[in-house]
Amino acid sequence: MWYDLKVCAAGIGERRIADLFEADPKRAKRFSARAGEMLFDYSKTNIDDATLKALLTLYEASGAAAKREAMFTGETINVTEDRSVLHTALRNPNKGPVMVDGADVMPDVRETLGRMHAFADAVRSGAIQGAGGSITDVVNIGIGGSDLGPVMAVLALAPWGDGPRCHFVSNVDGAHLADTIRDLDPTRTLVIVASKTFTTIETMTNAYSIRRWLEAGGGSTRDQFVGLSSSLEKTAEFGIPDDSVFGFADWVGGRYSVWGPIGLSLMLAIGSDDFDDFLAGAAEMDDHFRTAAPAENLPVLLALVGMWHRQVLGYGTRAVLPYDQRLQRLPAYLQQLEMESNGKRVTIDGNPLEIPSGPVVWGEPGTNGQHAFYQLIHQGTDIVPCEFMIAAEGHEPDLGVHHKLLIANCLAQAQALMNGRSFETAREMMAAKGLSGDEMDAAARHRVFPGNRPSTMLAYPKLTPHVLGMILALYEHRVFVEGAILNINSYDQFGVELGKELATSLGPVLDGTAPMDALDGSTRALIGFLKGHVSPGGWGAA
Ligand code: F6P
Repeated sequence: MWYDLKVCAAGIGERRIADLFEADPKRAKRFSARAGEMLFDYSKTNIDDATLKALLTLYEASGAAAKREAMFTGETINVTEDRSVLHTALRNPNKGPVMVDGADVMPDVRETLGRMHAFADAVRSGAIQGAGGSITDVVNIGIGGSDLGPVMAVLALAPWGDGPRCHFVSNVDGAHLADTIRDLDPTRTLVIVASKTFTTIETMTNAYSIRRWLEAGGGSTRDQFVGLSSSLEKTAEFGIPDDSVFGFADWVGGRYSVWGPIGLSLMLAIGSDDFDDFLAGAAEMDDHFRTAAPAENLPVLLALVGMWHRQVLGYGTRAVLPYDQRLQRLPAYLQQLEMESNGKRVTIDGNPLEIPSGPVVWGEPGTNGQHAFYQLIHQGTDIVPCEFMIAAEGHEPDLGVHHKLLIANCLAQAQALMNGRSFETAREMMAAKGLSGDEMDAAARHRVFPGNRPSTMLAYPKLTPHVLGMILALYEHRVFVEGAILNINSYDQFGVELGKELATSLGPVLDGTAPMDALDGSTRALIGFLKGHVSPGGWGAA
């Protein structure tokens, strides 16, 4: 299968993407697909009929479809952690039973969602108050999957934000907490401690610090703290009563958790009805993923295009470029989703992966990125497949001209990547400026764009809660398909552990209560330098 794809890759030769459009006037239609109101266009890639066929054969042969059903129906597909993978159950509260170990998980899902609704409605209406009155601000303390989803979605759905202001503290760097709480009223701030495990050192350090701030300022831990966690024991140990905890099962992975309790800050910001619409958008994508034929299936196609670029053509990174300022944290969210899921070096059976794992994912919203890193994308020596996103309409009708410009820029970048600019055209440009001979040629060389650089476009009518739900579920399922084809476990994350363990063991070394002898020379020297420059007591009590 991979061999057939390598043959397709070799067959590209000098073929230009732009020429594929000349040869097939219907290419844009044939190499695009829809889910609901969303359009995915992958025609500006060097994929032809034979390549698409080979990619679809790879998908069929991988058994991904059967594994997809195993995921949706609660089988233990996260084998290394012995867990089901059921974030899809969170966004389908009205569907039939979903069984895990012989028990239907849906009653609990519905009950928790109902409690979240009641709580969010009460905070938003002022029925639940802080020591000093109604809640004006919410601070979500969490990191990774307990932060990136809600912070990204609250920003994305700002036009729906009619609840308390939501803030997010993730970094253990005290600057993050200090800057966030500086202007907040501790008697009217609700603190959400979001941590599946309730042991993550960054989150717990921030949680204890904000609790001290809140209590010192006259706030009430009993009434102004909420826990989102799988461990009632640990939330109780921290001092959060059970009725202020929204729990979730171990089958909700951290980076897939925005659909449940971890999404509470989003629900507080936009209200329970709009949150439900966000869930409904994801559920629509789930249905599409389960029922659409592979050649029409957005997650399958997005995955196959991604694998063509990464595993077949060997491009090491992909850029996610939303032309939507409110999706500014989407690249960071997708970094965790894709890289923590598919950045693996062994297959599910523990054998070395013989093809490259998932790519580096990065990006920024357009048009800002254009004035920063697009230079490399257009003229650098590496090829970076680009995934553009654009809405037909913005949320500022009075600023419609801005949106038209945004669209024009987005489409122009995709065109420029594909078409490039030839040496001849660059020479003509320089000639028009009055240059000639060697001077003209030299100047022209810097102005050549090789083009033939692939991009895809995801287009949708407007960024609503429903559409955001669809986009996130689309990417989740893309990760699933890529992981299934690679035959890796996309749902564990052992790669984050070693650094955490070492950080824990370095704490006593920094305090001076453990010896440095066993450390490598570089780490010893760095500790020596840092210790030499810290003021007395600067790192707190040992
Ligand atoms: O960084 C690793 C990780 O385990 C992520 O997978 C997870 O989203 C994050 O830490 C936070 O974990 P928790 O919700 O348990 O605090």
